[in-house]
Amino acid sequence: MGQNLAEKIISAHLLSGDMAPGSEIGLKIDQTLTQDATGTMAYLEFEAIGIPRVKTEKSVAYIDHNTLQSGFENADDHKYTQTVAKKIGVDFSRPGNGICHQVHLERYGVPGKTLIGSDSHTPTGGGIGMLAIGAGGLDVAVAMGGGAYYIPMPRVIKVELTGALRPCVSAKDIILAVLRELSVKGGVGAVIEYAGEGVATLSVPERATITNMGAELGATTSIFPSDEITRQFLAAQGREGDFTPLAPDADARYDRVLTVDLGALEPLAACPHSPDNVKPVGELGGIPVDQVCIGSCTNSSLYDMLKVARILKGKTVHPNVSLTISPGSKQVFTMLAENGALADMIAAGARVLECACGPCIGMGQSPKSGGVSLRTFNRNFEGRSGTADAQVYLVSPETAAWSALQGVISDPTEIGDLGGIEMPARFLVNDNLLVAPAAPEEAGAVEVVRGPNIKPYPKTEPLCDHLKKEVVLKVGDNITTDHIMPAGAKVLPYRSNVPKISEFCFTACDPEFPARCKEKQGGIIVGGQNYGQGSSREHAALAPLYLGVKAVIAQSFARIHKANLVNAGILPLEFADAADYEALSLGDELEIVGLIDALKEGGRLTVKNNTRGTQFAVRAELSERQVEMLLCGGLLDYTKKMSER
Ligand code: F3S
Repeated sequence: MGQNLAEKIISAHLLSGDMAPGSEIGLKIDQTLTQDATGTMAYLEFEAIGIPRVKTEKSVAYIDHNTLQSGFENADDHKYTQTVAKKIGVDFSRPGNGICHQVHLERYGVPGKTLIGSDSHTPTGGGIGMLAIGAGGLDVAVAMGGGAYYIPMPRVIKVELTGALRPCVSAKDIILAVLRELSVKGGVGAVIEYAGEGVATLSVPERATITNMGAELGATTSIFPSDEITRQFLAAQGREGDFTPLAPDADARYDRVLTVDLGALEPLAACPHSPDNVKPVGELGGIPVDQVCIGSCTNSSLYDMLKVARILKGKTVHPNVSLTISPGSKQVFTMLAENGALADMIAAGARVLECACGPCIGMGQSPKSGGVSLRTFNRNFEGRSGTADAQVYLVSPETAAWSALQGVISDPTEIGDLGGIEMPARFLVNDNLLVAPAAPEEAGAVEVVRGPNIKPYPKTEPLCDHLKKEVVLKVGDNITTDHIMPAGAKVLPYRSNVPKISEFCFTACDPEFPARCKEKQGGIIVGGQNYGQGSSREHAALAPLYLGVKAVIAQSFARIHKANLVNAGILPLEFADAADYEALSLGDELEIVGLIDALKEGGRLTVKNNTRGTQFAVRAELSERQVEMLLCGGLLDYTKKMSER
């Protein structure tokens, strides 16, 4: 039996496991990336493990999230990251160089390599044929130290692309169509592998738009083959030597096959407040728009920007609309400036922001109260924009730009053909904002600068055999990492300061939660389905750890967050009967005895509800290694213990 693409890369990097679906596999990791909102903690963790230099082929630290500097905190974090990167052997991408995924695609991505990144949109790298996975910062720290990265062996879903896109229908509409079909849960435990004749019609950045939003499907990652288009992209970046062709075997097996006819697609929008609430733009026509934001790691490539400039050229943004544009990288920004497209955007009235995440992470540009915001981004969870009651629609660059001119949500196919957008045979390569690390023999002399915002990793404790704690929070379905640990300008500066950031934990759901945890000295959280969906942010586990949370009992978990809980030494448990969720209330005292043996013997446990005099069954679906980790107090302590052996 032949192999699909995912199996080929996995088998070439397999360190442990037998690739049986669902069983744990350990992968050798070639490259890592971090961004500043998660990266400072990842480097603090790397330092705590005690390995002097990274062992990966390439590791890069990007500064792209917290670039709005209203206090000293972000600057402290950036200085720490820059100095620690220099010492331990990591490339440092300075603020202004661009969004991690866009820059990584341009300057570092290599087909067939494995990449993990402390950012949930790391699968963007699948656009260039990498097996690129979002992970917690601690997983990244361990991989930088040469350790394996562990995941359940994924299923592989093939998406067969047939035909070619019509004018003003774009890659964003392809992934929105897949999200409509599969939903935000449809990719859980799976790699989405793209194939078919339509693949050759898409450039690498268009493929990367699709793999980027595979994160919204809950997928482990998404991947495209590496073909002639990939070779041309790498050649245009002056990196043709990094090209390797990659394709699935002709008789490869897939767990499911989905077909998308590109020619039949129309412009689509993910409506408030979920990326899978997808409707045709044509059905939404007429909704007045207050704000349009173009950019983010999903849609900020040169091609995206040139299409936007073409639509805006010679026109004026509607008087009721604020239009912001964030190019994805310094390369894109410079090329827009050089070819005049930037002037077309500015002349039309666009507010051009620096090349960073910006409004996508709530760093500025929150819409007005109840405002309608059209964004080319990847997430529209309630409140993520910084305005609790904003209505955020996710759309293509074409829909965004055309609607910004009309003042209402508008179908860009009304424009007709945009005319050929000519892409340069060579991109402008200038890596002067990438700082190389010190040579190993000079690393000892590099001083790591730690400002007052840099606080150590929280204190951990090995899991105890007898757990008796109160329910300190009960939440519903689809709790996101934004609910657990909000982003935004108020909170982001404290990502390297867990004691401070914990004051914001879950406050969007229950303002009393941090104070209650302190009063009760921690406790247990009860959740519904898909608990922890969204980003890879490990602070959504570190803040509960700091507040003394010992376990989360949920109907189901999102993959990365579940792994992050275990990494932090917090026990994730699933209801054996989802209906038992209903019978639990805030303040109930729960008790589990004989925890350690039960975990070692398959993870079936009984929880006593002492308040109500009842009991219910839960499952701990954990690998042997994860159980060991919990018994050590989490991944950091486990890694230290392993490296002492
Ligand atoms: Fe940044 Fe938003 Fe992407 S925060 S990495 S642009 S999802």
